[in-house]
Amino acid sequence: MRDKDYLAILQKGSEILGEAIHVVDAKGITIIYNEAMAKLEKIGVEDALGKPFREVFSYIPHHESTLAKALAEGEETKNKQQTYLNIYGKEITTVNTTVPIEVDGKVIAAMEVAKDITDIKNLSDTVLELQEGALNSADNGDLAAVAKRVNPKMKQYSFKDLVGENPQFIQVIEKAGKAAKTDASVFIYGETGTGKELFAQSIHYAGERKNKPFLAQNCAALPESLLEGILFGTAKGGFTGAVDRAGLFEQANGGTLLLDEVSAMPYELQGKLLRVLQEDYIRRVGGSKDIPVDVRIIATVNEPADKLMAEGALRKDLYYRLNIVNLTLPTLKERKDDIPILVNEFLEKYNARYGKEVWMIADDAMEKLMRHNYPGNVRELENIIMSAVSMADKEHVLTEKDVLLQRGAAEEQPMISGFQKDDSTLAEYLETVEKTVIAGYLMENGGNISKTAKDLGMLRQNLQHKIKKYGL
Ligand SMILES: Nc1ncnc2c1ncn2[C@@H]1O[C@H](COP(=O)(O)OP(=O)(O)OP(=O)(O)O)[C@@H](O)[C@H]1O
Ligand SMILES: [Mg+2]
Repeated sequence: MRDKDYLAILQKGSEILGEAIHVVDAKGITIIYNEAMAKLEKIGVEDALGKPFREVFSYIPHHESTLAKALAEGEETKNKQQTYLNIYGKEITTVNTTVPIEVDGKVIAAMEVAKDITDIKNLSDTVLELQEGALNSADNGDLAAVAKRVNPKMKQYSFKDLVGENPQFIQVIEKAGKAAKTDASVFIYGETGTGKELFAQSIHYAGERKNKPFLAQNCAALPESLLEGILFGTAKGGFTGAVDRAGLFEQANGGTLLLDEVSAMPYELQGKLLRVLQEDYIRRVGGSKDIPVDVRIIATVNEPADKLMAEGALRKDLYYRLNIVNLTLPTLKERKDDIPILVNEFLEKYNARYGKEVWMIADDAMEKLMRHNYPGNVRELENIIMSAVSMADKEHVLTEKDVLLQRGAAEEQPMISGFQKDDSTLAEYLETVEKTVIAGYLMENGGNISKTAKDLGMLRQNLQHKIKKYGL
């Protein structure tokens, strides 16, 4: 077979697979370039195919091109964020994996597989801008107002919001109270919905930093290439389109930064974070200036640290640096004696919110609540009471039938019998089921994507794709 035939086969194959693929030969001429890639780079296939890739795309500085690196140095790049301009001058941001293809020890081509993250990047830029703008324009010290402006729904929690009398829980509160008087890093382990955010905020607002910012970032919520820029900021010229912008460390200066799910942070970045904590200065991505920062770190995980370290998800050295104060939050299952107190608290809260008069809960309903296992912990109990109160008419007492256990209910429903051929195709029906299940779990997990992905036994990226697809 002729080379041309092989190329045709590969080009076709790449189209079937649907991944965005770009292959250049040793001279940098594009020999394979598929529709998916063209869509992502917002040009036509014919704009690139058969042309030197350096003429079609501009990379500033030039060495940022992973294709060029693969060709010249045989260097492999995995999941790296790149921003560059296409032939029409449009800025494109992708995450690329680029590999050199070697035959007899010589690089004969380089292949790039890309994902489009332009939208995510714009979104994260906007978030940082909003936050920065709000902080700058704020009246000195009026951080409550700032917080409200950045996120009007954001509530500030303090120790008095932590409801519970269970001895184990009280012990954790006492330890957290002591920690609030110091500047030490705090490491919180607790399953989803056990109150990690509440504890983190309580510590911040009870301490000397209370008039400085409290900022939070979920490390699992962003692709790794963006997380670094969000945390440490970016410097102009770092890559095309990069602007000078402070990251969360600079924005939280003098205050507290909550790093949720710190074990989801890429291993290398965890090393970088450790250096920042040891040296007390940061360097913006692409920048060369050392900027001093004074930020208290509170880090959380929702699986035991030992397990995360054994799996290689959490760096030991970072863990020892963060774990100056360790708070392990009990699950609701471990403090069921607190259920009645929490129920009363939530009844009051939602009576007030919905203008209802539900004063108490019947014995059978309480028994049902005591029997449940609460994989979603206090958040789950709160949601159960919230929906019961919001559905109440004029009654003053909630009974067993008013208390709907979310996950239990989902399990009881036989999904399969719902399919009716005349309404929809099987594929459509399955999509509806998928959407419903994902939405349900997301709600139960309070929007926590990692946890939801784990519960559903799917990859995070896969889940993110579905969330986007279904507009959840
Ligand atoms: N001890 C508590 N007293 C009162 N309310 C609580 C308590 N613990 C949790 N809650 C309620 O549960 C909700 C979830 O708590 P929080 O956001 O702190 O959980 P989390 O541990 O950070 O969960 P995730 O891992 O999912 O982020 C809170 O908004 C709060 O309303
Ligand atoms: Mg949280």
